[in-house]
Formats: sequence, structure tokens, C-alpha cells
Amino acid sequence: MAILVTGGAGFIGSHTCVELLNAGYDVVVMDNYSNSSAESLRRVQELTGKAVRLYEKDIRDADAYAEIFSQNTIDSIIHFAGLKAVGESIQMPVEYYDNNIGGTVELLKAMQKYGCKRIVFSSSATVYGVNNPVPFREDMPTGGTTNPYGTTKYFIERILMDTQAAHPDWNVILLRYFNPIGAHKSGRIGEDPQGIPNNLMPYISQVAVGKLPILHIYGNDYDTPDGTGVRDYIHVVDLAIGHVRAVEKVMQGTGVQIYNLGTGHGISVLELVHAFEKASGVRVPYQIDSRRSGDIPVCYADASKAARELGWKAERGVAEMCEDTWRWQSQNPKGYA
Ligand code: NAD
Ligand code: UD1
Repeated sequence: MAILVTGGAGFIGSHTCVELLNAGYDVVVMDNYSNSSAESLRRVQELTGKAVRLYEKDIRDADAYAEIFSQNTIDSIIHFAGLKAVGESIQMPVEYYDNNIGGTVELLKAMQKYGCKRIVFSSSATVYGVNNPVPFREDMPTGGTTNPYGTTKYFIERILMDTQAAHPDWNVILLRYFNPIGAHKSGRIGEDPQGIPNNLMPYISQVAVGKLPILHIYGNDYDTPDGTGVRDYIHVVDLAIGHVRAVEKVMQGTGVQIYNLGTGHGISVLELVHAFEKASGVRVPYQIDSRRSGDIPVCYADASKAARELGWKAERGVAEMCEDTWRWQSQNPKGYA
């Protein structure tokens, strides 16, 4: 019995593969390496001493599934594969809808064809949109997303709910991630964005390592304690362990369940910068710029449902997130290249 991990070579996928392998699962990865490389999975195997079965395939490729399902007994799927750059999605909505939604539809067709009925999906706190009060709870209304990337997450959630409604013997878990940062303790795997990072933590760490000159902070006039945006940063290893709990749950039979994976606490951009400076001993120069369009002032999770039903809680604090990010970035200044 194996778990099929789409997008398993990526940032969250590679950390999840480590935790799945350590928990004793067989792991099959399907990735087209559009935002990753085989090197991350080579290191996953080196860290765990276990083999991953790799398929360099696109989730939109209907023919790819015959090979994967005939060569493996797939019990459940963790579906990470997708494009995730917000700005790029505004420039290239058709490519985002094709890759993320088209790809998910092909995956679901294959699940129907080969009788695989369990899926855990990577959704995002972005589905809470701009109108809900914090902390975000799973039963709040979703939608009102501010960019095509976010809209793909909202649509895919709906597609998965409709599919489960039509097939009551399917089990679907939607995981809404808050802001994953950090890296594996070993410093061997971590986040390796292509080009200039869109997200805060990789930007900070690339300034610290000297790849970028200065951090741009998008606004210090929000209604928050220091005026900068507040987010719920979660260590990627905690997030990965959350996936192991979700796989255990989806195997027990859940219908559709939705869980926030966050810490339940928000910190500001400046607080994260200062925590990173303390952890790394490196100063991070910054300048205040105007707000980034589509940003909300504050975003953090009510993480109590995952604690109650999955027995999962984030355990690693911000200092550890920064230390682990710095170990990865300083030991791999060019990422996996
Ligand atoms: P990532 O880009 O590092 O990983 C995604 C992986 O999917 C990459 O390895 C990429 O090559 C692969 N991929 C993309 N399109 C594919 C396709 N058509 N066929 C096969 N493989 C394909 O991103 P990540 O940060 O690890 O995110 C994983 C998932 O979690 C994504 O769905 C993302 O939208 C979601 N998510 C991420 C965050 C975050 O902050 N990182 C937050 C919320 C949700
Ligand atoms: C963003 C996406 C979200 C996606 C998530 C993971 C937007 C509006 N939202 O979340 O849909 O799920 O990434 O990919 O883009 N910041 C700076 N300087 C920077 C980068 C960020 O000040 O160079 C600030 C932002 O204004 C925000 C905070 O840092 O207050 C976190 O930003 P980011 O890491 O991009 O995450 P989100 O915006 O929360």
C-alpha cells in the first residue's frame, strides 16, 4: 500500500515525504519538476535511508496514471502539485486554471478509473478571502479570493466536495495551510524558489545570505501593533506531520473534512525580521514600501479543530523556524542548484 504524493519534490511535498517514510509508508511521487528538481527527492532518500518511487509526469497527462496505478497499489493521495505564485497567476490566469484545476480534474478521473477513493488536498488560508474576522475557522464562508491562484484553491475545494457528494464512499480532507516557513533540521532540504521570491521568509533569508540587497516591507500603516502585516507562520515540518495525521484520518473514513494547519498565533513582518536576525546573527536591511495589492492586514488560524480531531498541534516556535531556515539557506546559498 502506497501513498501517491503529487508535487512531492516541492517545498512542502519533500518535507512530507520525509515524515511519511519515517512513519513507515511507501511513497510514490508524481512531479513534473516545473518548480523543483529531482535533487530534493535524492536528499529525502538520503535523509530517511528509504526509497521513493519517482514518476516525472505531469498531473494533466491522462496517460501517466495508467503506468502509476498499474505499477503501484495506491491507497491514498496527497495532492500538492500546483502553481502557487500569486503575482504570476494574475498575469497568466489561463495557465493557472489549466495546471491547477485541469490537473486536479485529470487526477480525479484517474481516481475514479482506478478505484482510489481517498485524497488529502493542499488548500490555503487564502480561501477565507477578505471579509472574515480572525481567527479563521473552518466553518466560515469562503470565496472572495483576490487572485486567480487563490481562486483555483477555492474552486478545487468545491470540485472535491461535489465529487465526494456524488461518491459517498470517497474520503476527502482539505488542509488549509497558513504560512509555511522553516526547513528540515538537517539543512539538507528547504524552500528553493525560482527567481525573486514572492513570499516573505525566502526573501528575508536571501537578503541575509547576500543574494538580494534589501527587504521591501509592504506597508507599515496597517491596523496592527507595529503597522506591518500579521501572519500565522508555521514550521514546514509541523505542517508535514499534519499530513501524516491527515492520511491516518482519511484512511479511517471521513467524508469531507476541512482542517486549518496553523499555529493559531500571528506575528508581524517586523517581528519575523527581528526573530530571524536573532537566530542568524545577521542583520537584514529593510525599507518600508507601499502596501501590496490583495494583502490583508491580519491572518491567523483557529487551529483547534485539527487538535481535536487529528490530534495534531504545531510544536515548533518562531525561533526554531528562523534557525532552520537559516541553516538551509546558509548551507545551500544557491538552493538545490
Ligand atoms: P512547490 O512549488 O515547492 O511544490 C509544488 C510542486 O508541484 C513542485 O514540485 C512542482 O514541480 C509540482 N507541480 C506543479 N505543477 C505540476 C504539474 N502539472 N504536474 C506535476 N507536478 C507539478 O510549492 P509548495 O510550497 O510545496 O506548495 C505545495 C502545495 O501547497 C501547492 O498546491 C500550494 O499551492 C499549496 N500551498 C502552499 C503554501 C505556501 O506558502 N508554500 C500555502 C498554501 C498552500
Ligand atoms: C501569500 C499569498 C497566499 C498564498 C501564500 C503562499 C498573497 C496576497 N497571498 O500569502 O495566497 O497562499 O502566499 O504562497 O500574495 N511581505 C513583505 N515583503 C515581501 C513579502 C511579503 O513585506 O517581500 C509581507 C506581506 O505584505 C505579508 C507578509 O509579509 O504581510 C507575508 O507575505 P507572504 O509571505 O507573501 O504570504 P501571504 O501574503 O500571507
